[in-house]
Amino acid sequence: MKVTKEPKQIRSMFSAIAPRYDLLNHLLSLSVDRYWRWRTVRVLTRETGEDRLILDVCTGTADLALLLARSHSVVGCDFSHPMLRLAVDKTAASPLQKRMRLVEADALSLPFGEGVFDGVTVAFGLRNLQSYEKGLREMKRVLKPGGTVAVLEFSQPRFPIMREAYLFYFSRILPRLGEWISGRPGAYSYLCHSVRDFPEQEELEQITAKAGLQYVRHYSLTGGIAALHLARRK
Ligand SMILES: C[S@@+](CC[C@H](N)C(=O)[O-])C[C@H]1O[C@@H](n2cnc3c(N)ncnc32)[C@H](O)[C@@H]1O
Repeated sequence: MKVTKEPKQIRSMFSAIAPRYDLLNHLLSLSVDRYWRWRTVRVLTRETGEDRLILDVCTGTADLALLLARSHSVVGCDFSHPMLRLAVDKTAASPLQKRMRLVEADALSLPFGEGVFDGVTVAFGLRNLQSYEKGLREMKRVLKPGGTVAVLEFSQPRFPIMREAYLFYFSRILPRLGEWISGRPGAYSYLCHSVRDFPEQEELEQITAKAGLQYVRHYSLTGGIAALHLARRK
């Protein structure tokens, strides 16, 4: 399968799966995704301190943004209207609503000024951008000097047996389950291919540097199934 990152196609794919997105996320990851987001907030807060202004790019249905809002003021942005509608409904039902704003925006052209945010997060979003470097450059632009970017993304386990099992699950089981539950052929095959195409650690460090950010470190999560990458604006 050819992985196209044409923005219109990406947006319509996410808009189509939006109604089942949360259910599938938690089901297909056996809810481990909740732990990964929790860890992201904890690690980021350790870097920035509490009560900061954080931008969550590619916020989707705002799961990460809502977790961040427990200890920060948060702006969540995404370019899929149906995803954001679900985010609005979810936040409306939350007491954290007053600490959150949701904005419809493209990650490659953020509608914010230079140096506004103390931190930027992106969970399972960077992989979908047409240019990783351009996305990271935009994140850097809106960050204050000294601010931190936290990128949570799927990764590939290094341990061979675990890697094989993971790739089997991702390429054979997950696309079928995803298609069956979402009713959208292709979306979950795209997930598998986009994860395989996503750069490994060293390459991501280089892209981050090209975007003008200083790569700080990464945390391998759940045996390398996911990774949390930290970078800083100098
Ligand atoms: C896999 S979902 C992740 C959602 C959320 N961050 C989470 O952790 O569940 C990817 C999201 O990125 C959004 N997205 C992809 N490309 C984008 C872009 N160029 N600008 C803004 N949002 C984008 C999609 O609409 C989708 O909501």
